Amino acid sequence: MSDTAITAATAQIMTVLRHPQDRPVVRSFFDPATFTASHVVHDPATRRAAVIDSVLDYDPASGRTNYASAQQIVDYVLEQKLHVVWQLETHAHADHLSAAPWLQEQLGGQLAIGADIVRVQEVFGKIFNAGTEFARDGSQFNHLFRDGEGFKLGNLECIALHVPGHTPADMAFVIGDAAFIGDTLFMPDYGTARADFPGGDARMLYHSIRRLLSLPVQTRLFLCHDYKAPGRDTFAWETTVGAEREHNIHVHDGVEEDAFVSMRTTRDASLSLPNLIMPSVQVNIRGGHMPEPEDNGVSYIKIPVNRL
Ligand SMILES: [Fe+2]
Repeated sequence: MSDTAITAATAQIMTVLRHPQDRPVVRSFFDPATFTASHVVHDPATRRAAVIDSVLDYDPASGRTNYASAQQIVDYVLEQKLHVVWQLETHAHADHLSAAPWLQEQLGGQLAIGADIVRVQEVFGKIFNAGTEFARDGSQFNHLFRDGEGFKLGNLECIALHVPGHTPADMAFVIGDAAFIGDTLFMPDYGTARADFPGGDARMLYHSIRRLLSLPVQTRLFLCHDYKAPGRDTFAWETTVGAEREHNIHVHDGVEEDAFVSMRTTRDASLSLPNLIMPSVQVNIRGGHMPEPEDNGVSYIKIPVNRL
């Protein structure tokens, strides 16, 4: 079966690789509290930038948020004189809250996520028994990307790829020769993302990963998380298609679908839920906004008992 989105992404990556001066510049910010890597990517010719998977700091004991992590992104963007045109989310994260609405106020940019966010909103809307004021149509975002959809970052061609499995709505954003792949692959020595959240699917994740690994071997991959593999004592979030194909402990070349699915399913059964799943999901399915305040003006995060 031909895959026009991957063919187009491959052509775009090869073009940029032939013109190294056009390669996008990436600066990453790592949050050790949630093990999240956020990225600011820009076109060196026009200084148009995208912020990808930002973090809003949240203390679960007090229910307080703060902007220390997001402020680092603001400082960098101002210092580098970048013009932010996109605030991108690879998916509705379950382990950290998104700072996209706050960053949008500070820096601008269209807030975008994958079109299948509506399925995630449906599933978690039910789990959290959200009222009708919670729209399940993706309208909390400025744009919903479909598989293979092209977009621009300054002069750079970009393509959005739908890579479901970790959640039904995961996207990867190919910007020049760099692909921001969210929670699909982790560093080669750590493996792959879990696929056991509501709507997740290990078989689907395998297909999405093989699709990403069919991009040119030189493609730079930027990940959303790192947890340090045993034997490694620094955090890392950048690798390449070639390195993943050769060394990824879960899905290097030669690992068959059934073997991956059984490994992934067994491993997922041993994992506990992320510490911040309750607040993260409720906020992130709302595009990073808190639930509607109650009649005293305060927003509340719910915890469904014996449900997840
Ligand atoms: Fe995730």
